[in-house]
Amino acid sequence: MSLSTETAPTAHDYHGFEPFKLADPFAAYKELREEEPVMFDDRIGYFVVSRYADVKATFDDWQTFSSANAQAPIRPLGESAKRIMAEGGFTTYSGLSARVPPEHTRIRAVATKAFTPRRYKVLEPFIRDNVNVLIDNMVAKGTEGNILTDIAWDLPTITIFTLIGVPHDMIGEVKEWAGSRAAITWGDLTDAEQEPHARNLVNYWNYCQKLVADAKITPGDNLVTDLVTLQTAGDEITDHEIASFLYSLLFAGHETTTTLISNTLRELLSLPESYKAVTDDPKKIPGAIDEVLRISGSIFAWRRTAVVDTEIDGVKIPKGSNLLLLMASANRDPEVFTEPNRFDIERANARNHLSFGYGIHYCIGNLLGKLQVRVAVEELTRRLPQLRLAPDAQIEYGENLSFRVPTAVPVEFS
Ligand code: HEM
Repeated sequence: MSLSTETAPTAHDYHGFEPFKLADPFAAYKELREEEPVMFDDRIGYFVVSRYADVKATFDDWQTFSSANAQAPIRPLGESAKRIMAEGGFTTYSGLSARVPPEHTRIRAVATKAFTPRRYKVLEPFIRDNVNVLIDNMVAKGTEGNILTDIAWDLPTITIFTLIGVPHDMIGEVKEWAGSRAAITWGDLTDAEQEPHARNLVNYWNYCQKLVADAKITPGDNLVTDLVTLQTAGDEITDHEIASFLYSLLFAGHETTTTLISNTLRELLSLPESYKAVTDDPKKIPGAIDEVLRISGSIFAWRRTAVVDTEIDGVKIPKGSNLLLLMASANRDPEVFTEPNRFDIERANARNHLSFGYGIHYCIGNLLGKLQVRVAVEELTRRLPQLRLAPDAQIEYGENLSFRVPTAVPVEFS
């Protein structure tokens, strides 16, 4: 974002921090941690928190720092987008992540009963079959591929759809709706640019409501039916809350995993001895995935709002302030991770990363996400030990406040 000389604050240059540029923000993060670990950024109106201890403590203290702003559009909705959404009957806001106790506690308890590791562990053979079909298709095209589009795009979508009970012919549409959700909430869009995304969100929300209504008429062996069954048995959750949870899952359940699969392969192939190490010893894959989450997580920043006057590191945070927690900076804090910029699949404390958040909102789908990445890496290393990044692969990242999504991961395997 460039600023004119009239509007540019001059006290500091924000230490090089650009809120929407996630491609290579690490030098700016370092400077923030060292020089202004709690910085007010007047361009977005957020206190930017960059040290590990502060990010973790803020996540953990939900009484002081609520997640109520976690899903608010970073650029307020324009009038036309608001009208499209009101006329379309768009009434949800968040499934879990922006809800606060006691409502969050109640809904998360019901969701946790349905969203058990047992429910998705049975999907492992199905995930493995799908990975192999995707590898077959990639290999059949020649000796070059793109991990993002050939493998990582469809896999988590098919998994989450199967788990929830969404027909697979809806993949294209839901993936597009989910993209609109990311753009409208965490993107830097003009009012006119918001409009098509607002229409998509209306369709997306109506579809989630239809899934709940359909499950009541035609139950299936899936998560929506489990939630409806719990409701019928007396658990406190409304149809609107179930639909809202689905609205969350149909977004959170694939976008982030698509990114994690892509980044895992990119990191492993950028340092070919790491790819060889996990090929030779697949038991090293889970540790490697945690290290990717630490050094190249799918979500670089997440939001909170102060519900009382407080302070962090001696900086006063007035009630009502917005905070941007830089997990990707926390994950490279040398106070916690030695040689933080080094990718090391054997790093002993990689699991202490904050890429799934921390505390009461800790990612409910973390095991499902990691399961899919593990299976993808197991099958790719088994079948394509010679896989390598395409020479001169230019990997770029779209602009966004939170989600760091690569545009492609070109590979070769001849
Ligand atoms: C694999 C990569 C993933 C990453 C990096 C990721 C990251 C996150 C983060 C940062 C949060 C916010 C935590 C907080 O506020 O403290 C979160 C929450 C959440 N995630 Fe994930 N996630 C991933 C995968 C998934 C999957 C596969 C699902 C579902 C199938 C999922 C469902 C959710 C839900 C429902 C929440 C809200 C939980 C709550 O507020 O109680 N995520 N995730």
